[in-house]
Amino acid sequence: MTALPKHIAIIMDGNGRWATEKGLARSEGHLAGAKTVELVIKECLRHKIPHLSLYAFSTENWNRPKEEVSYLFELFCQFVEKELPLMQEEGIRFSMIGDKTELPENAQISLQNAVERTKNGGSLELTLALNYSGTSEILHAVRQSAAQILTDGETLHTIQDLAHNSEALAAYLASLFDKQHYTEQNLRNNLYLPSLPDPDLIIRTSGELRLSNFYLLQAAYAEFYFTDTYWPDFSAQDFEKALIAYQNRKRRFGKIDA
Ligand code: IPE
Ligand code: IPE
Ligand code: MG
Repeated sequence: MTALPKHIAIIMDGNGRWATEKGLARSEGHLAGAKTVELVIKECLRHKIPHLSLYAFSTENWNRPKEEVSYLFELFCQFVEKELPLMQEEGIRFSMIGDKTELPENAQISLQNAVERTKNGGSLELTLALNYSGTSEILHAVRQSAAQILTDGETLHTIQDLAHNSEALAAYLASLFDKQHYTEQNLRNNLYLPSLPDPDLIIRTSGELRLSNFYLLQAAYAEFYFTDTYWPDFSAQDFEKALIAYQNRKRRFGKIDA
């Protein structure tokens, strides 16, 4: 039997359909979904799962009606402010992935406050993906790692030395990004949270069978668990079922069974 996952990532989907099918506004679905977040955090604490990532807002979600987008950000802030005492009490370390600079200013302030106030938490790292996409994270990592390498003191020195020899300069610049010098580690060191291990288990609710741009690189060896249940209806029993399904998987990582 496979040991419990160390990192669970969840694509929380189906809030809108849950509400629409009940004749409610989509916002009611998001509000009900926030309750499920509380429940899943408690389940992770109970099972001593050290990392939980929640996909809350993708870079593509900006294409929703303005009212829904602003409601969601209000809800994220309210949620984080409301949960702050519990997070501090339980030793939860709150973190965020995604491009923060594009978030509404009040959201940036309240989310950053939660990051600061929980930074010493050691029980569960709770990562909220906001204005996140795997594509933009990889692009960010490529840009940042390239900039780091090119602006490094030693690099600049060598560039100056070779300034009058364009052939040698071109060869030197190309060598900075060859197999020996530029590795997977260079890229990984520049992901939003380099210390966060890759997810072992990715759960998606609501019956959709896709990643929708979540953790593209980090999902390389994740196990997937899909359920038709809408996120607001996702229960402790559903969580348990996902854990059991995971424990029955055989993870080979390219090797053969011993
Ligand atoms: C997930 O629920 C929440 C977010 C994407 C913010 P949806 O809002 O996508 O719900 P459906 O998929 O429309 O039912
Ligand atoms: C994925 O859900 C993003 C989040 C859960 C935040 P969507 O509902 O936006 O995904 P698509 O559009 O159905 O792929
Ligand atoms: Mg959806």
